[in-house]
Amino acid sequence: VNNEVRQLLTLHEKAAKLYHHILLNTPAGQPALKYLKKRGMTDELINQFNLGYAPDQRILKPFFEQQKIEYQLMRKSGLFSEDQEGKLRDRFVDRVIYPIKNGQGQVIAFSGRLLDTSKTELPKYLNSPETPIFNKRRTLFNLDIAKKTARKTGNLYLFEGFMDVISAFGAGVTNGIASMGTSFTEEQVSIIGRTTNQLDICYDGDEPGQNAIDRAIGLVNDHRPPQLKIKIVQLPAGIDPDEYIQKHGAEHFNNYLSSQEETTTDFYLRFLRNGKNLNNQNELMAYLNQVLKVVAYVRSPLEEDMYLQKLASEFDLDRQTLKIQLKQVQQELG
Ligand code: GTP
Ligand code: MN
Ligand code: MN
Ligand code: MN
Ligand code: MN
Repeated sequence: VNNEVRQLLTLHEKAAKLYHHILLNTPAGQPALKYLKKRGMTDELINQFNLGYAPDQRILKPFFEQQKIEYQLMRKSGLFSEDQEGKLRDRFVDRVIYPIKNGQGQVIAFSGRLLDTSKTELPKYLNSPETPIFNKRRTLFNLDIAKKTARKTGNLYLFEGFMDVISAFGAGVTNGIASMGTSFTEEQVSIIGRTTNQLDICYDGDEPGQNAIDRAIGLVNDHRPPQLKIKIVQLPAGIDPDEYIQKHGAEHFNNYLSSQEETTTDFYLRFLRNGKNLNNQNELMAYLNQVLKVVAYVRSPLEEDMYLQKLASEFDLDRQTLKIQLKQVQQELG
């Protein structure tokens, strides 16, 4: 490991400690601590994830200057923004701090969340920029811990947000990860493929969440690591995993994850209905053609038959006719 990387890791370690200390032990941290407690964060979770608070006054720069940290190193760390004259200012101001670690558990970046999003145009979450130690496309929140659990459970859960991962952890689901922001990448797919044989996608139960599941399935299918299976856990409308846990508790959440897990085909049977009136003949035909394209990729004959059975009974159709139509679709797909 080269010197610069080592120094940047040390800076992040120091910053994480400082932000954590401010959250727990100073008057300036109290509103943030109250906010986290209100969101159901226990002391254990706050310590486990080393959560912190970047106060209103800029404190990181004087803290580093006092320790004679070089300007160039501070500049490269991404922890500061830079004005036209090259003067540095703390990037994270008045935000709850979520340290982001690499697969080895070293802090490589931060995400900062506003306590109050109501009276501002500022982004809810602000992430560190790319640096020599932080590549967003390759980073998965909580991977260092989740991969250890995955060795026992055989699966990882992919959530949308950091708060979902942390709340799930508090509910005993310690194999949850999240991508950085909403975009899930090819690089992350290949890292997941090297870590586990099953990925359970559990995004928010809203329209953006459903569209993101569709995109994630497409990405995994395009770059499919040979043995990686995907399952979907669709949450009730309008809520995310964190909200589910706050509302129903850990036990219900665990039950939900295991009982609602479905195949990607089942997900598409639901997803493709969106915006269609299936009482209308033409829209039903369009739906069936789209669904059969999905069923066409099912490799097990028994499973294929199950889906045809489902469609036949729901829409009162002849299963043999559906089967003939499916063969046609399969031929067209080549
Ligand atoms: P909470 O409101 O704290 O519960 O956040 P959430 O995780 O429910 O947020 P949401 O579902 O809106 O977004 C999911 C994830 O997208 C977040 O955890 C962030 O990683 C990311 N995200 C959300 N808002 C922003 C933003 O304003 N900027 C950036 N860069 N990322 C965001
Ligand atoms: Mn969301
Ligand atoms: Mn959410
Ligand atoms: Mn939200
Ligand atoms: Mn949320």
